[in-house]
Amino acid sequence: MQAYSSAFARIYNERWVEHARHVAPILRAFYESTALGAENRHLLDLCCGTGQLAVHFLEHGYTVTGFDFSEPMLRYACKNAAPYVAGGQARFVQGDASDFALDERYGLVVSTFDVLNHLPDEAALRACFACVYRVLEPGGVLVLADSIQLADSPQFSVAMENFRRAFHEPYYPDYIRDDIDARLSAAGFQGITAESHFMARVWAAQKTP
Ligand SMILES: C[S@@+](CC[C@H](N)C(=O)[O-])C[C@H]1O[C@@H](n2cnc3c(N)ncnc32)[C@H](O)[C@@H]1O
Repeated sequence: MQAYSSAFARIYNERWVEHARHVAPILRAFYESTALGAENRHLLDLCCGTGQLAVHFLEHGYTVTGFDFSEPMLRYACKNAAPYVAGGQARFVQGDASDFALDERYGLVVSTFDVLNHLPDEAALRACFACVYRVLEPGGVLVLADSIQLADSPQFSVAMENFRRAFHEPYYPDYIRDDIDARLSAAGFQGITAESHFMARVWAAQKTP
């Protein structure tokens, strides 16, 4: 977590805009094609980083809670979404994704770009999914975009091994072998789907309506 320092946050904020611009409209279109997504406009961006993705949803009429551990990342998020924070459509909350409770309920929870594999161990991941399930409205949708795993992308095993060496992410070696579908199912989610896109794996799952 130390990695998300002020210097890193500044660079992340400058360099990671294109990713959010590309991914956010795809996520929004997917969510709005679901039964609840046709009317509910409440988003929780879990591990929101500098809030680039959140801004897209705010621009499209959503109310957004951004949640993250890193104060420097959250400072940029507040700045990027400043008019919406001032207008009450956005708030940014500091906390641990594996141990949180929020008073609102959300139609959509997203967690994008290598978040799960930052968690320290399996217990933290289990706890994270339980927290997410609690804050979703019935019929609400969770979308996770994270690293590929060995079972779905064995051709990238060397890249995954190099990633593990280059970045200090304690859970990553277990994450790439983990059965995330089974974990989502154990947390109560249904309609679980997963697809790999180059180095990313994207899961969607729904809370029982
Ligand atoms: C690679 S960044 C992704 C940021 C953002 N989701 C995006 O798509 O650009 C990972 C983020 O996860 C946050 N994070 C990592 N572990 C966390 C935890 N246990 N609780 C809350 N935030 C966490 C970091 O502070 C960082 O902002």
